[in-house]
Amino acid sequence: MRPTPVLCGIGISLPDRVVTNDELAARLDTSDDWIRTRTGIRERRIVDPDTATGDLAYTAAQGALKSAGSAEVDLVILATTTPDHPCPATAPHVAHRLGLSGVPAWDLGAVCSGFVYALASASSFVRSGAADSILVIGADTYSTITDPDDRSTRAIFGDGAGAVVVRAGTATENGAIGPITLGSDGSLKDTILVDAGGSRRPLSGDCHTADGRYFAMRGKTVFRHAVERMAHSAEQVRDEAGWSTGDVDCLVAHQANARIVHAVAERMGLPRERCALNIERLGNTAAASIPLALADAAGSGQLRAGNKVLLAAFGGGATWGAAALTWPDVTPVTI
Ligand code: UT7
Repeated sequence: MRPTPVLCGIGISLPDRVVTNDELAARLDTSDDWIRTRTGIRERRIVDPDTATGDLAYTAAQGALKSAGSAEVDLVILATTTPDHPCPATAPHVAHRLGLSGVPAWDLGAVCSGFVYALASASSFVRSGAADSILVIGADTYSTITDPDDRSTRAIFGDGAGAVVVRAGTATENGAIGPITLGSDGSLKDTILVDAGGSRRPLSGDCHTADGRYFAMRGKTVFRHAVERMAHSAEQVRDEAGWSTGDVDCLVAHQANARIVHAVAERMGLPRERCALNIERLGNTAAASIPLALADAAGSGQLRAGNKVLLAAFGGGATWGAAALTWPDVTPVTI
């Protein structure tokens, strides 16, 4: 029988520095009331200048390995769109710092859907028998790519990292990862874009003043597609898992906006109380948002071993995805 991927450990890492809405409002033309009402965000964590995505990824991964009770994995996949450098990938260095030099390690870029894409990749490696245990990390530091003077993006994003360990197991045990669906629509490329700094528009001269080097988003368009795609793909994996909506204990959707998460739940006929929601404290942490929300829900007791969980994500590309799993008996570790 083919092995089933099983989630068996989870760790997170957050910068110490808390930036409140009031602190942003002291510098930008915004207000605590606007940000809370339109997004549900009250504060976010922001890295100091000495901390990069790879540092958060490393500590989150340490936590996940500790939570799994294992120091070894066969592969490392790091979902991020804010790597430490444009070249090389960040994952090999994270693996090296973890003492995992020699294992295959790579970055995966699917923006805010990155964690679900990485989980899908890890699950395929396990199902095929090509790997027995995999470290899946979602880490981003959007404070490094958002314009400090742009209220529309600066208010939304926060920095952080979350990681899980996936191992080979059986379909009947807690932690078993069930159906996963992924999708993309490149016609929406321009709705979420860092225009400059790639091969189409290389940075030249003074990169600090280069137009287009910051993250830009068409919020309303993204909002609409995010709700549609997350609800549809979550329903797809729910059906493939053979669950009804009433069976679903917890929806862990990408924390893009509290209104988006609630709209997805409403479309699916799920009560709001069954949504994991930590955006109030962390903002939108891109590829880190789903593992951070999982860890918070597990830590608070909202998620318990055996619970039926749906993950749903939407991000730039556009990309989206969803996964079904039963929650394992694990304790999230923060380092
Ligand atoms: O993680 C990847 C996926 N991302 C998402 O899913 C994000 C999806 N989009 C959203 O969450 C929302 O569209 C936003 C939170 C980004 C924006 O909320 P909105 O209700 O769609 O506002 P809007 O963009 O239509 O802007 C309405 C007004 C504009 O002013 P005018 O043009 O009407 O005068 C904005 O300039 O609100 C203004 N605005 C702000 N005002 C105060 C935008 N950001 C702010 C702000 N404070 N921080």
